[in-house]
Amino acid sequence: MVSMAISNSRQSVRPSLTGALTLEPTADGSFTLFSEDFGEWFHSRAGAYTEAQTTYVEATQLATLALLPALTILDVCYGLGYNTAAALTTISQVNPLCQVKLVGLELDARVPQQAVAQHLIAPWPEDIQTILQQLATDGQAKGPSLQARLMLGDARQTVQTLVKEGFQADVIFFDPFSPPHCPELWTVDFIQQVARCLNPGGRLATYSCAAAVRTAFQQAGLSLGAIAATGRRWPGTLAQFTPVGLAPLSQQEQEHLLTRAAVPYRDPILSDSADTIRHRRQEEQSQSSLRPTSHWRRQWLSS
Ligand SMILES: C[S@@+](CC[C@H](N)C(=O)[O-])C[C@H]1O[C@@H](n2cnc3c(N)ncnc32)[C@H](O)[C@@H]1O
Repeated sequence: MVSMAISNSRQSVRPSLTGALTLEPTADGSFTLFSEDFGEWFHSRAGAYTEAQTTYVEATQLATLALLPALTILDVCYGLGYNTAAALTTISQVNPLCQVKLVGLELDARVPQQAVAQHLIAPWPEDIQTILQQLATDGQAKGPSLQARLMLGDARQTVQTLVKEGFQADVIFFDPFSPPHCPELWTVDFIQQVARCLNPGGRLATYSCAAAVRTAFQQAGLSLGAIAATGRRWPGTLAQFTPVGLAPLSQQEQEHLLTRAAVPYRDPILSDSADTIRHRRQEEQSQSSLRPTSHWRRQWLSS
């Protein structure tokens, strides 16, 4: 069954997604886009395909998981579909018989469509391109070992549909624009909903190591580990319900979580505007008894 264009009664947060999506090459030869609406690149400029492969596929050890008979994947912020493409390519190389269920969440239908129309997905294997094409045009793709759907709409709403369905992912790719540019997808409240879609032994990967983000994952009951985030100056984060197998956070990263930077974003009704969410956090930070982040920064810069 296909879930498309889930309605959102309060679309006020991003009233019009009409800004330009500008094409840019990245260092590994693959292309990304710049979003005028969010004021940010879709991928690390060091390599869009490389980021999909390392930060998401390798960090979640997908090649090993693909040896299982079945795998369920949630791609939060599907975008151009690169994380999905990298995952499906790896799975088909390792175990083409693995039964894959995949759901992508995406707000802006133009993005996956543009990825296809501008041939940005051309380097992926042909069968993977076909899947991305079907997702962009029909919102679903089916094959002997694949059931995939793309849910269009605000992920804060569509994730609630998944929760109601009892959807449980083995792997979650969590790839919104950065917290300052898209705070609505890094709140404790949204991340709690996402965590409800992660099975007890599942893994979630994201490029971010922001203290506010890591605190939100912790408040959703997840343990944290550091992962290499290709092309970025900082590590990414692997989150899962059990700490087993996680690379521990460094002393510096742990102390970061004790500063005001760790005050998380909140969105109790899952539909506030980005500005409201930012202001709410600033207010909470100004009243926080946590250590100022500038002290932590000075301490670690001088050591
Ligand atoms: C950093 S890009 C994701 C890149 C993507 N993973 C890829 O491989 O191409 C962030 C994506 O989040 C989408 N987005 C922004 N706000 C959203 C929301 N509220 N719900 C769902 N998707 C959203 C944007 O349209 C954009 O495609």
